[in-house]
Amino acid sequence: MNIGTIGGPFILAPLAGYTDKAFREVARSMGADAAVTEMVSAEGLARGGDKTKALLERFPGEDRLIIQIFGPSEDPVERAIESLLQHDPAVIDINCGCPVPKVVKTGAGSALMRNPGAIGKIVKTIKKHTDIPVSVKFRLGWDSDSINYLAFADEAAEAGAEMLTLHARTRAQGYSGKADRNAFREIARHFSGSGILLFGSGDIFSPEDAIALMDGCGLDGVMFARGAIGNPFIFRETKELASRGSYAVPSLEERIGTAMTHLRLMIRYFGENVGCREMRKHLMAYIKGIPGSAKAKNAIGMALTEEEMAEALGLLLR
Ligand SMILES: Cc1cc2nc3c(=O)[nH]c(=O)nc-3n(C[C@H](O)[C@H](O)[C@H](O)COP(=O)(O)O)c2cc1C
Repeated sequence: MNIGTIGGPFILAPLAGYTDKAFREVARSMGADAAVTEMVSAEGLARGGDKTKALLERFPGEDRLIIQIFGPSEDPVERAIESLLQHDPAVIDINCGCPVPKVVKTGAGSALMRNPGAIGKIVKTIKKHTDIPVSVKFRLGWDSDSINYLAFADEAAEAGAEMLTLHARTRAQGYSGKADRNAFREIARHFSGSGILLFGSGDIFSPEDAIALMDGCGLDGVMFARGAIGNPFIFRETKELASRGSYAVPSLEERIGTAMTHLRLMIRYFGENVGCREMRKHLMAYIKGIPGSAKAKNAIGMALTEEEMAEALGLLLR
């Protein structure tokens, strides 16, 4: 698979509850080369549920959409494939990292790390139906006593996966603890010259972090996750750092202006009620660290309309 399929190395990671079409639109406008949907249940896709379909809606003109599915085995994936292909993904990604008990107890997400045979079967099932590239996003292992990312990656690669994204933490770590940079180096060495695209995820909170994983560890690209929440500027900054060795940070006016643009997209796509409610967590992240943000936080917490949200954000510009 060529990196051109996804436009470049700087991708917005899948983030359940965050990477809806509004956030993806903002991230792409700031330079994200592609974006991944929130994880979508293969079973839900197979059944044609409205909630599942809504997760796969695109913003006008959205291209290079990577669709992430989750499921415990090839069976729901086989039943979901027809519906999945109707959504025309640029890449089909399989979630093998989700630590949430509700998902894990079905055998999906990070539970697949304990069942590596299943990932091979899932990848092969998809490959049987389509030439669209398949990618797999996985962790170091279930816990520190069962680190198996290389063997797991081999299983996926042998079945035909063209892209691999390592989130260099175990399932037991959740989202805490440091992502293991040695593991990034190890996997890059392991697959060197294979033609498989290798992406890294974990602790990418600055442009410097991203470049360190690519130049320092030998990865082809990175997925920005928590580091992009409330901070879509990180895509533009990273591209500037990569091309000219430095970058400009956004002004306060740009931060607030982008937060407002994001809010308006949320309202356009999901309505004022849902849009404002869902936007709260994003806005808290946009304003983090800005002097006077405590007062604005309270106001955002209570705002129910675009006007009230704008008023709350305006407190920071006074
Ligand atoms: C709120 C939240 C939701 C997430 N949802 C998904 C998901 O749907 N699919 C997935 O593969 N990873 C998901 N992740 C994991 C991220 O994509 C990423 O791998 C992880 O946060 C590590 O990167 P970071 O340390 O830079 O945030 C989620 C993480 C968070 C914090």
